[in-house]
Parts: sequence; C-alpha cells; structure tokens
Amino acid sequence: MRSLPYSVAPRWTAVLLLWAAFCGLFVPAAAVKHENFKTCDQSGFCKRNRQFADDVSASSSWTSPYNLVPASLSFNKGQLEATVLKTINDVGEKVPLPLIITFLESGVARVTLDEEKRAKGQITLRHDSKARKERYNEAGQWALVGGLDPAEGAALSETTDTGYTKVVYGKGGNLQAIIRHSPFSIDFQRDGETQVKFNERGFLNMEHWRPKVEKPVEEKKEGEEEKKEEEKSDEPKGEDESTWWEETFGGNTDSKPRGPEAVALDISFPGYEHVFGIPEHATKLSLKTTRGGDNAYTEPYRLYNADVFEYEMDSPMTLYGAIPFMQAHRKGSTVGVFWLNAAESWIDITKVKNTANPLALGMKGHTDTQTHWMSESGILDVFVFLGPTPQDMTRQYGELTGYTAMPQSFAIAYHQCRWNYVTDEDVKDVDRRFDKFSIPYDVIWLDIEYTQEKKYFTWDPLTFVNPDQMQKQLDKRERKLVAIIDPHIKNTDNYPVIDEMKKKDLAVKNKDGNHYEGWCWPGSSMWIDCFNPAAVDWWKSLFKYDKFKGTAHNTFIWNDMNEPSVFNGPETTMPKDNLHHGNWEHRDVHNINGMTFHNATYQAITERKKGEVQRPFVLTRAFYSGSQRSAAMWTGDNLAEWAHLEASLPMVLNQGISGFPFSGADVGGFFGNPSKELLTRWYQAGIYYPFFRGHAHIDTRRREPYIAGSPYTEIITQALRLRYQLLPAWYTAFHEASTTGAPIVRPNFYVHPEDENGFAVDDQLYIGSTGLLAKPVTKEGADSVSVYIADTQPYYDYFDYTTYSGAGHHTVPAPLNKIPLLMQGGHIIPRRDRPRRSSGLMKYDPFTLIVVLDNDGNASGTLYIDDGETFDYQQGAFIHRRFDFDGKREILTSANLDVSSPNSKALKYIKSMEKVRVEKIIIVGAPKGWKNKESVVVMEEGQKESKRRKPTEIEYHAAEGKKAAWAVVRAPKVGIGRGWRIDFGDKGAGHEHHGHEH
Ligand code: NOJ
Repeated sequence: MRSLPYSVAPRWTAVLLLWAAFCGLFVPAAAVKHENFKTCDQSGFCKRNRQFADDVSASSSWTSPYNLVPASLSFNKGQLEATVLKTINDVGEKVPLPLIITFLESGVARVTLDEEKRAKGQITLRHDSKARKERYNEAGQWALVGGLDPAEGAALSETTDTGYTKVVYGKGGNLQAIIRHSPFSIDFQRDGETQVKFNERGFLNMEHWRPKVEKPVEEKKEGEEEKKEEEKSDEPKGEDESTWWEETFGGNTDSKPRGPEAVALDISFPGYEHVFGIPEHATKLSLKTTRGGDNAYTEPYRLYNADVFEYEMDSPMTLYGAIPFMQAHRKGSTVGVFWLNAAESWIDITKVKNTANPLALGMKGHTDTQTHWMSESGILDVFVFLGPTPQDMTRQYGELTGYTAMPQSFAIAYHQCRWNYVTDEDVKDVDRRFDKFSIPYDVIWLDIEYTQEKKYFTWDPLTFVNPDQMQKQLDKRERKLVAIIDPHIKNTDNYPVIDEMKKKDLAVKNKDGNHYEGWCWPGSSMWIDCFNPAAVDWWKSLFKYDKFKGTAHNTFIWNDMNEPSVFNGPETTMPKDNLHHGNWEHRDVHNINGMTFHNATYQAITERKKGEVQRPFVLTRAFYSGSQRSAAMWTGDNLAEWAHLEASLPMVLNQGISGFPFSGADVGGFFGNPSKELLTRWYQAGIYYPFFRGHAHIDTRRREPYIAGSPYTEIITQALRLRYQLLPAWYTAFHEASTTGAPIVRPNFYVHPEDENGFAVDDQLYIGSTGLLAKPVTKEGADSVSVYIADTQPYYDYFDYTTYSGAGHHTVPAPLNKIPLLMQGGHIIPRRDRPRRSSGLMKYDPFTLIVVLDNDGNASGTLYIDDGETFDYQQGAFIHRRFDFDGKREILTSANLDVSSPNSKALKYIKSMEKVRVEKIIIVGAPKGWKNKESVVVMEEGQKESKRRKPTEIEYHAAEGKKAAWAVVRAPKVGIGRGWRIDFGDKGAGHEHHGHEH
C-alpha cells in the first residue's frame, strides 16, 4: 500500500504519538519520499527531451529540423504569421506548425507555435478517448488579463527569401527580433545587442502527432530463449518509443491517448550570470544549474503542482505552485521569459563561462545562462521581456497576468492558525488569552476538524456548537475567522453538497467520462471542476450565508489541497488522463487547476449577500500565474527546523519578483515542535512575510505566543507590535504592488540592480519602497548578523539609530530580543505607534513619520490608506500622500498624489479621516545646526489664517558615538489627508507662500 502523506493513524497510535510528543521524544522524520515523485528520467517527455538535447549537443553535423517557410510569412498590425515546417524522417516528410509572433504595445513579444494537424483535429485518439484533439491553448484564458494590444509601431524592417526576417518594435524602435528561417531561431535584441535567444542550441522540439503502429508480436517458439540485448544490437534502431504511449509510475498507468506531444525549446541569455524566478522551489533566489558539477543540481527544476510531504531544502523538486516566469539579470539589464503552459514542465539551467580574452583588449569575461524548457503537452507560447530594469519586468508581467489584489487591511496583520482549534470555546479562549497578554492579532483560523466528518460547509455539531456566537466575540475586536474549504467533496450519503455536484454533473471525470473518485481527508471523494463555469456558479451558491450557516461577514476562506492532492493518485495528485470541462485532459491543465478553484472561492465571497461589499480574503496552497489577482499563498508544510526558516526568505523573495508577492511560510514550522528560540526567531522573521501566519500540525504542542513564557512571550509580542506599528508602510507597499507589480518585500538586486556583489543576496529584504532593510536571524545561538549594504547611503538601526555606512558587510547586534532592522537614508516611513489588540482598532489612530535623512540631508516617502475593507478605493476613496524633506530649505511637506477629481465617495472618505493626524515626527540624522532649535513652524492647508502658522516644539538629541543625532516634533497635529508644510529652518521661516494643495 502507498503510504499516505499524513498519518491517518488509529487512535492508539495517536495517543502514543502524543505521549512521545509530550515527552519531547517526537522528532519528525524529516525526509521527503523521493520514490513518490518522478525524476526527469521517470517522466517520459523529460527524459526524451533531455536525451535529445544531449544528442544534439554531442553531434557536430546536426541541424535543427525546423524551417520557416518564407513564402508563408505575413505581417499585419504588429503580428507576424508564418508556417514552420518540421522535417521528420528520411523521406523528408514535413509537419506544418503555424507560428504567430505578436509584438505588444508594452514592448513584450509573444511567440506561439501550434501543430496544424492537432489544431484541425486530424488525428485519432487511442483507447476511444473523449479527450480534445488540439494542443491545449486556453492557458491564456486563465492567466492573462491584459497587456495584449499589438504594437501599432512594430514594423517588418527586412525579410529575405532564405535568410532572416527582422521586426523592429518597442518605444522608439529600440527593440528588434531577428527571425532566422533555416533552421528556425529568434534573437531578441535591445539597442542592437542580443538579450534572449530562442533555439540557439537547436533543442526546439514539438512532438508531432503520429499513430501508434502496433508491432507484430514475435511468437516465441517453444524452447527458444528471449533474445539477449547484445544479440539485438545489429538490428536497425528506430526511435525509442518506450515512453510514447502508456506510462506507468508507482502502480498508476497513464493511458496517454494522444501519444507523445511534448513541447520544448532552449532559451539563452547571453551575458547574464543570474536567473531568478520559476517558483515554487525550496532553493536559492539565484537559481543553480541543473546538469551536475560543483554546487549544482542534477535534476531540472520541475513545475508540477504537488502535495510534497516533508519537502526537502535546496532542491529543484516541484512544490505546490507554479509560475513559469524567469528573469535574467546583469548589471544594467534585466530581461525575462514567461512560458505560458500549464502542463508538467521541467527547466534545465546551465551556465557557460567565457573567460576574458587577453588578446582582445577591453573584452571582459562574461557568463551566459542557457535554459531548456520542456512541457508535456500544449502549444508553445512564450512571452519575451526585454527590460531593461527589474521594475519593467514586474510591471510588464503584471500587465499580462494582473497585479496583486489590494487586500483588506486585516489580511496583512497577524493570523493565528493551528490544526486545529478544536471547539468554538477553544477559539474564544485563545482569543481571550491574546487579549489577556496584550498580544495583537487579527485572524483566527479553523482547519479541517471543524467540519462534520470532513464535509465542507458543515460544522461538527458536537464541537462547534455555536459558531455565530464565536464570530460575534471575534467581531467585538474587529477580528476575523478563516475557515478551510478544500476542493475534494466527500462521496457519501446524506450530504447534499455531493448529491448536487453529482446531479449537476460538475465534478472532474475520469478518462472514461465517469465522475472521478479518489481518496483525500474525507475518504472517498470527488473533485469540483472549476474549469466549468456552471461549477463556479454552483460553488458561489454554497457560500451564501443562508447556505453555509454559521458563517458571517467576518468569515473568510482557506483553500488547501488544490494541486489537487489525491492521496491514492499518481504523485499524490490526479491521473493525467482525467477529463475536465471541455474535455481537456488533466495533463493539459494541471498547474492551473488550483487557481480555478481559489478564483471561484474569491468570487463566491463577493456574492455571499446582496448589497454586502467587501474585499474577499482567500489563502491558496496551489497557484499559477494570475493567482495574485484573488489569493494569498503560503509555502505549505514546512518543518520546525532552522533550515526551513532560512529557506523561507528566498522563497518569499522569489514570490515577490514573480508577480505573486502576498506570500509567507508557516511561522514556527508546520511539522514538529520548535524550540522556544526557534519559535521566537521565526516570529521575528515572520513579521517580514507579506502574509504572516503562525500554523502547526495536529500532532504538535500548542505554541500560541503567550505559551512560551518569559522572556519569549514578551519578545514575540514586541515582534508582533513592530509588524502592527509598521502596518501603514506595509499597506502602502501592497498598494504599490497592486498598481505597479513591484514586490512587497524586495531582494537586493531589485533595489540595487547595478550592484553586482549583491545579485545573489537572498537572506535579507527591503520592505516596499520604505528603505527598511531587514535581516532576520536564521541561525541557532546567533547574537549578531552580517547585513549586506549595497550603497553609500547611511543606514540607521531602526531602534537606536546606530549608523552603518559604506558598501559591504556590517555586523549588526542581534541578541534574542533584538530584530536586525535598518533604515536606509533618504526615506520617510509612516507608522502607527499606539499598541492595539487588532488592526481594525487602529483605523483612526494618529500617525508617526520617521524622516531618515540621506547623505544630502533629503528624504521622501509615501503613504497610502483607504477604508481597508470595501472597493470604494477604486472610486477614489483613499488618501495617497507624498512626504518630502528638502534638506537645503529644511522643509517637510505633504503633497497629494491623488490625481483624480474628487467624487462623493472620495470626499466622504477624506471627511471620515479628517481628525486623523500626525502625532509625531522623528528626524533621524538631524543636522547639528538644530542643536539649539526650540520650535519649528507648522502650516496646514484649510486652516484659518490665524492658525496657519503654528510654532511647535522640537527636541534635539545629539549624536552619541555611532548613534546618529535625531530630533522629534512631538505634536505637529497636521491632518494625514491634508497638505501641510513644516519649516525647520531659521531662514525664511514663515515668509514663503504656502502653495495650493488639493
Ligand atoms: C495540508 C496543509 O498544508 C496544512 O497546512 C493543513 O493543516 C493540513 N492540510 C490539514 O488541513
């Protein structure tokens, strides 16, 4: 029997385990079961394509059999169309492959290659399959939401009969695609320099359709032995068909009714040493190579959403989600590709070092990164981004796949979860204890045990007797509940949800067209097929308050197991020959499956009650490009070990640059019991995850922050307070992500794209555009960390203003009660300093501004706030300010960044915030000249003339040793939504005209 990913242990075993855990003896067996997941060699198409690449590389005479037919080429309105012919055998038979290259207004190019025969349905499927005949071409319908306008300005600049075709595109025509005809390849250039190459190495491979030729079975005569391999060696060798048709793994056979249909391509980035992206893997930010050698992997990075039990560190193994978007970075340039394919995919990465040529003066050595992309099915569909900055990458990718949805403000505060809070009384008790210990938290979570026998949309009547009352208690402090709802529906009697799903025919089907039945938490289950619009409609109906009784306006949803996880399925998921709506095989859509489910849940939450408008919150485990539009993600079942804490940082950073920044890891580690030190350090790191949730496995001991005891509880509380204090900065960062695609936490290369020494740095992070630089402790027993500083600005310790300056590594003290956090000079950071029990209670709290001066004495920053709940912000109901400190004039101003003309919603919101003021301004690195200054002059728009110029007290603190001087204006009392100016200088104070502010 296959082992299940979670112990479904009989009661006595559970008791034993508990006893062992109690005695501290329980050490989780931290080892992924490699045998449950395929290696490249065990995945037919990966093996074939890797072998193909090896054969091609080894041959000196070989040329790629793909040729573009010049006569077929046409160009119209930013789009090039042509036919590429693949020559397939000795007699020169040719397979037509329609090619479309679209040059988009944004400067992105999209290349698609299909297979005519399959597209026209001129193939025969085996096993009487009902599957579609085409290559899957609908990934874009799920992943893409914009940015697809073809460029008016793109032009065919040159085409020759035999050689090549050139298309000029991009702003001012600075981009160029050189499409070579024979063999077919494309070079993408920016300013005349090649940045990305397709099929340079000749690994392009579209496995064309072919009928299976049944070989006559040679009858073995009696007494005759089976031929030995060596005896067969002189027989003519055909292609190796061993993985073309049926493929068996772990006792499951995939019927592969369409035969081999992989699509593969090599993509090179000349001159680029670093590539990032293609989450989700537990690996470094700068991706390692995959073809063996020092510090390299031997397996390609795999993208095949899967429930990987006890996943391992430093590995290219697949995990729960897939974003096939890769960026290559070097000094002065970032470029990228987005491989829009939802089937199982593998990516090999190799690097070629070109050493400097001593004879060619000025020729520096450089490294090229080469990649090889392989997917099991689907059309070839690739987007090419030519940068040149990391910001261009995230913006353009976001234009295509959507930006992060602006979350409700509670969603970026602290979430308290465990598997499980066992009764409604338990939940209320935990809630009360947080208050008793004055620990802030916003959301408490319910894992699967709240249901009656794992039947979603029900409550266990014995343990959750009064969910309404429970939620009312939470609501008193503006707190929320998140309940889990998984995609597997218990296949049992007397459960209306399964009855309806079957009756309405909304479940995923098996290869024979019957409802697919597999095994998950509830035992026998069926899976909702959210590729079907009717299934989504039905799903929406299930969340209505009168249907899902016991839920309230403060209930939100956690979607787990949506890879989908199927305990008895191949690689813990669905058979690839299962059928979805439209008769697409599961093979084609696997990586998108989870996204269709959390999208449906998102929609359901918007429609729970007529007239109720609030932004949904959905957490998902499986994801794909586009998931950021409707969900947050977490990194699944990690372990309570230091290595997992460490790995969470590059993983979260990678999510950020890959367009899905609302991410985090289970704080404390899911499996096992963290030491108090590890738990404390994990909280100190977790406050920097955009999605910040403590969670633990059912077999672990309770570990809510108040349990650890002194000094841990106090230290964890301090960490939580720091998160809450900085919520305005976090919310502003989320707003930036939701409008520009910029990551919420940012790696060094993104902030300092010119700093070659910092490209691979992935253990520290910047929060949004605030200049806050955090370096979480991830090592046991550490009392300091080494922070890497990329530039020559001063960096100040967040708490005591110790100054660190100079590019390079700096040792920053980090005893257990200290969180290494620096502020880069040049920023103004918004905070709210009053400790509260939940973020909802901070809504009308005053602000503090930290003005952190740079080398020239300047600083600037932004603040975005809205009601944190509804969609009114989309109609202008928000406050968006820019603060500037001009070091020369010694003036701090607040200017409006909202360019829209105010409507009634906007005005109403501004009015509601009228009394919200700035209560304190701290200037870090304050000039010496302020030593004897006693007051500053505060001017605010909309105030009566008599009140407009208010002298306000300032307090100066001289520098002490390495600690920078600072000054504080204690009660400027200017409105957060208003235009104002504070004059710190002696000269001219009060004489300047106060410019008009909207
Ligand atoms: C798997 C999830 O990854 C984990 O977080 C959850 O607690 C269990 N499923 C039970 O629902």
